[in-house]
Amino acid sequence: MPDFADFDTRHYRTVDVATGYDDWSSTYEDSVLDAMDLALLDGLTSPDWSAFHRAADLGCGTGRTGAWLRGRGIGHIDGVDLSAGMLALADKRGVHDSLTRADVRRTGLPAGSYDLAVASLIDEHLPDLAPFYAEARRLVRGGGTCVLVAYHPQFSMVSGMPTHYTDASGESVAITTHVHLISDHVRAATGAGWALAEMAEATVDDTWVAAKPKWERFRGHPISAAFVWTARG
Ligand SMILES: C[S@@+](CC[C@H](N)C(=O)[O-])C[C@H]1O[C@@H](n2cnc3c(N)ncnc32)[C@H](O)[C@@H]1O
Repeated sequence: MPDFADFDTRHYRTVDVATGYDDWSSTYEDSVLDAMDLALLDGLTSPDWSAFHRAADLGCGTGRTGAWLRGRGIGHIDGVDLSAGMLALADKRGVHDSLTRADVRRTGLPAGSYDLAVASLIDEHLPDLAPFYAEARRLVRGGGTCVLVAYHPQFSMVSGMPTHYTDASGESVAITTHVHLISDHVRAATGAGWALAEMAEATVDDTWVAAKPKWERFRGHPISAAFVWTARG
């Protein structure tokens, strides 16, 4: 498995997930582009979103993903996140039926009780994907679905950029970042009882370059990837 430290070009001070997202929470939504995740979700063809009644939103953050799921008609959504600051904003948004402060690898949510587990833009914070996919499989009924939107490993390697934010003093601060190859996802997910149903990748295009002109040098590189997994058995 590659080590992000070998690609890091920024060498920012690095903090853990809860510390970083608590600090970033008030400005997080100004910095994340829908092109990274929601546009990819929009383009998926295999999930029948209207058939899902209960979803677990793992790493729910401020509720962007939950709001997207509500927009697809999903009636019950439980959110889990490690950051109290992000959860407070999700609570204000009000799209989840419950919000739990817990690790996505040990949610404490009831087994086999969801049609769908979703995790958007959290995989780069997990050192190992296997415990995540195992917990998602525990939560979802047989035949259910897991949709994961990943930070693309090629972008991590080419850009050398960790997930980071600018704090109140103006300092750029990184949040612990890991790189997972596409094959790492396939190995971990299939090992946990998931079968790949669909995959899509988003590339740096005009939308990105308009928002971040310095990213012209990344044009055409994949920046995020969506996986749709079906629970075997
Ligand atoms: C980039 S945000 C994505 C939030 C939301 N899914 C979205 O797309 O806007 C990543 C979120 O994952 C959470 N997170 C990262 N690792 C986690 C873990 N092991 N357990 C629970 N939450 C985690 C962070 O606290 C943060 O709120």
